[in-house]
Amino acid sequence: MLFPLASALIDSEVRQINRNPYQWLFGFTAPYLSPWPVTLGRMSDAALSEVVALPYRVGYGEDAHRLAVGRPLMLGGVLVPSARGAVAHSDGDAALHAVADALLSGLALGDIGQYFPDTDPQWRGLDSAQIVRRCLQLVAQAGYTLGNVALVITLDTPKLGPLRRDISSSIAALLELPQSRVGVSFKTSEGLAPDHVQTRVTVLLVQR
Ligand code: C5P
Ligand code: MG
Repeated sequence: MLFPLASALIDSEVRQINRNPYQWLFGFTAPYLSPWPVTLGRMSDAALSEVVALPYRVGYGEDAHRLAVGRPLMLGGVLVPSARGAVAHSDGDAALHAVADALLSGLALGDIGQYFPDTDPQWRGLDSAQIVRRCLQLVAQAGYTLGNVALVITLDTPKLGPLRRDISSSIAALLELPQSRVGVSFKTSEGLAPDHVQTRVTVLLVQR
């Protein structure tokens, strides 16, 4: 458990999006008094202090969204030309959501639903890149850097092969990694799940 001051310092970056009224009123978070059930600031305070210092940590994340006509299809921050896109509360970027979950999972910090509940109107239309950036901050605060990232995107149509470099360079830029450390594979569901897009991601976290 961290002292409140240390905890507020650790949290200084991520608390920008913490709508905790104590922070808003007094300029610091009051993690254990918050009437909000879960916020990014509160979770990072409590959980970051419990991340066990292993030399390497593996994270795994996945996400799926239903496809519907007239929605944008965002994958890894790239707008994919497609008649159908992800039905979602946020921008529905299944690749970035899975990356974020993999980062949190690597630190045993839960999942993005705890930090950005899709029942909360303040996260409507949220740019998924912002979610990933917050998770990256947690990785850094926990004393880790990213080794490499591997994604598998499952989608029947359209073909994503022609966009492989766009998607991997977009994710690499967001994660501040060279493209050679971001593997992107595509699979069809062989018609078993033609109405959804799914992404599975593993990450390797390396202790600094
Ligand atoms: O899933 P399956 O093995 O049939 O995929 C065959 C090839 O199609 C793979 O090489 C994959 O890169 C590509 N693919 C793609 N776009 C998709 C799904 C698969 O380019 N949406
Ligand atoms: Mg999602």
